[in-house]
Amino acid sequence: MNRAVDVVVIGAGAAGLSAALGLAATREVLVLSAGDGSTPWAQGGVSVAFGDDDPLDHAHDTDIAGAGFCDPRNVRALVEEGPQRVAEFIAHGALFDRREDGSLSRTLEGGHSHPRIVHAGGDATGAEVDRALRAAVRAAGVETMAGRTIGLTKSASGRVTGVLVQAGGETIRIDARAVVLATGGIGNAYLASTNPSAVRGDGIALALLAGASLVDMEFVQFHPTALFTGETRGQLPLVTEAVRGEGAVLRDARGRLIMAGRHPRADLAPRDVVAREIEAAMRRDGSDHVWLDARSIAPDVLRRRFPTVLAACASIGVDLLSEQIPVAPAEHFLCGGIQVDRDGATGVPGLYAVGEVAATGVHGANRLASNSLLEGLVFGRRVATALTLDLPASTESTSYEVVLTEDREPERIRAILTKYAGIRRDGAGLAAAAEELSALGNGPLATVARSVIAAATARQESRGCHWRSDYPHTDARWTEHVTITLDENGLPKTHDAARASA
Ligand code: SIN
Repeated sequence: MNRAVDVVVIGAGAAGLSAALGLAATREVLVLSAGDGSTPWAQGGVSVAFGDDDPLDHAHDTDIAGAGFCDPRNVRALVEEGPQRVAEFIAHGALFDRREDGSLSRTLEGGHSHPRIVHAGGDATGAEVDRALRAAVRAAGVETMAGRTIGLTKSASGRVTGVLVQAGGETIRIDARAVVLATGGIGNAYLASTNPSAVRGDGIALALLAGASLVDMEFVQFHPTALFTGETRGQLPLVTEAVRGEGAVLRDARGRLIMAGRHPRADLAPRDVVAREIEAAMRRDGSDHVWLDARSIAPDVLRRRFPTVLAACASIGVDLLSEQIPVAPAEHFLCGGIQVDRDGATGVPGLYAVGEVAATGVHGANRLASNSLLEGLVFGRRVATALTLDLPASTESTSYEVVLTEDREPERIRAILTKYAGIRRDGAGLAAAAEELSALGNGPLATVARSVIAAATARQESRGCHWRSDYPHTDARWTEHVTITLDENGLPKTHDAARASA
């Protein structure tokens, strides 16, 4: 079965649905979804500066967290367009938590100099963002289809002309004048992650196959506090940073404060700093977790603000109100991704990317907490505006297909990436990872893993969430970003790795 639409959006998270909503009035849009993305699982909220807060302070905090690697123009777009996007989203029906006087309730998270995180359902912001966006998209008449995108079609001139989707037991070709990748991060390329299992980096592999470039793939963010359940595989429950925003502190196995004296913002330092200190404490103590102590926070505040975290704790028999809870860092967010301009264009005609799968440079080397839902709203709208203004009148005829192959040994690939490209990396481990991956085919997980390993190998310094024990300092001479394309054998190769000049 073949069909045609104006625009196909692959992914139904905040970025994909925002793009679809922005296009609905002028274009026929089809949203494809391979399963639950990360959006419904987001807890903390949406960071947005308004009232007594200044978008320029938000930009400054974003840049500090990003370790000097953010794109300043795109960060300005994020913080300056953000307040209007959030206001429109509320007008569309999103229900954020409010104080008694009716104003939006705002909290603090790591790396923020001002309480600017708006939230919903206490700690269930992602679920509300998902609900409200889905309702708005449905009301706007956008069609959604369940299915896994396994390939892209291209014209003789190299333009992307559509997608190949597996749905209902068959492969369907859908022609489109533009394809927007909004497939999220790479969580399932690791053994454990805060992401659901459908989030596995297919969009990254598809973009590479189509001829696009990746950038900043070494910057994989670990959330400092996933709930330590004893499980080391699959999706781990998050303990939102907002718990520390309300006053909780991290303690090591002997009860000592982990962040005391480690950073001026202590437990609310940017999350790469906190994750590293936790990892060091765990190594020191020979432990697989540390403790989060929220007992200084009034029980009614904890109950009202963190029902999701309380329920997750209860499911493993611990009580956030009266005892310390076990936590450990877990893979959470890809700061790099498909290289795009501010309107989501990948450089491959007809192919766009938005949200976590895309690298606009707004996260630099380490994303500021709660900037990702905002990114989805802002850049989803930007790609929609670009495609409203400029879309070819008709599809070019399809000449060939680029198709994902199956991964040979997914669990082995995950184990390699987890072992060698976690919070702490070094050259010997990265070389071993490259060697072990070499026999594991060209499937999407293998491609994602090789891209992370290649970028992490190239960057011989530590910056943001890329921490190399053999190059433990940030080197100001590393000003360039590491980009990746596929070579003639279908293997990721790095470019522009600006070696520190001797
Ligand atoms: C959290 O609530 O701590 C996660 C928010 C985020 O990843 O931005």
